[in-house]
Amino acid sequence: MRTLNHWQEWLFGVSPWDAGKITDEWFRAHFEYAADVVNHWVGGVLDLPTARLLNFGCGDGITDLALVLRHGATAIHGVDIRQEYAKLPRIAREQLGMRRLPAALSFETIRSGASLAQRHAGVDGIMSWSTFEHVQREQLTPILRDLYACLRPGGYFFIQIEPLFYSPFGSHLRRYDDVPWHHLLASEEELWKIIEAHEGPIDAAEVDFGFADFGVDGYKKFVFNEYRALNRLTADELVEATTDVGFHVVRQERRHLDMEVPQSLRDRYPQDWLLNNEIFLLLSK
Ligand SMILES: C[S@@+](CC[C@H](N)C(=O)[O-])C[C@H]1O[C@@H](n2cnc3c(N)ncnc32)[C@H](O)[C@@H]1O
Repeated sequence: MRTLNHWQEWLFGVSPWDAGKITDEWFRAHFEYAADVVNHWVGGVLDLPTARLLNFGCGDGITDLALVLRHGATAIHGVDIRQEYAKLPRIAREQLGMRRLPAALSFETIRSGASLAQRHAGVDGIMSWSTFEHVQREQLTPILRDLYACLRPGGYFFIQIEPLFYSPFGSHLRRYDDVPWHHLLASEEELWKIIEAHEGPIDAAEVDFGFADFGVDGYKKFVFNEYRALNRLTADELVEATTDVGFHVVRQERRHLDMEVPQSLRDRYPQDWLLNNEIFLLLSK
């Protein structure tokens, strides 16, 4: 369907933008790093200028915007259970000086686990960045099965997770607590006390655009609840969950941190879980 955006773009071209205006480190990390990694993996197997792409767990959509502006994608549909992407027009104005978003982008809020396959069948590629560790365990298989149904035969699905739960900062709480594996060593109450007591600035690259809505204390609660809801998936479990529903592994890369593991953890968890902090997984149908 042609939107107003399509007609404006047809008449006036893509709104000019300038990466020299970027001041926000979260924006930069997604506009540059995340988009470059997705382009490397997905652009390596699909032709981005002609591919129809779905981004599962698109968040604020900054990566999608960069895939269009910097890597030539022309059709990306982002879905998410939250509506952070509604901020993207403002963010793009502030960080790039763009007057309107490219018509190549569309977004949708979904209920967690809602089927997408009826409306989004036949896509060429699906990507999911830092999202699958947040999906509730019991929804993993139904969601993966549904994404499999969305993809056309011969299509590709790229998943990235970082940090993996058992890795040194797998709690996603590092912005408040820099002690490696603290979530595996301390109680929830102890962790919350550290977060609650935290004062001063946090790493700008880890502060998303939701921070302004929540405020300092609200953001602490939000981030801690996110930690408690993590599904604790390991890289092997992710691969097994995806291949169980029919995907084939094309290529994967698992990154490990080089750190001394405390003896108490070595006795409780496999060494590989404790050091493997990231997985890039390219799947095909
Ligand atoms: C850490 S954020 C990553 C967002 C984005 N990919 C990025 O790189 O900024 C995880 C995202 O997954 C979304 N999410 C969590 N569970 C989901 C589900 N069941 N279906 C769709 N999105 C989900 C969250 O709302 C959130 O936007």
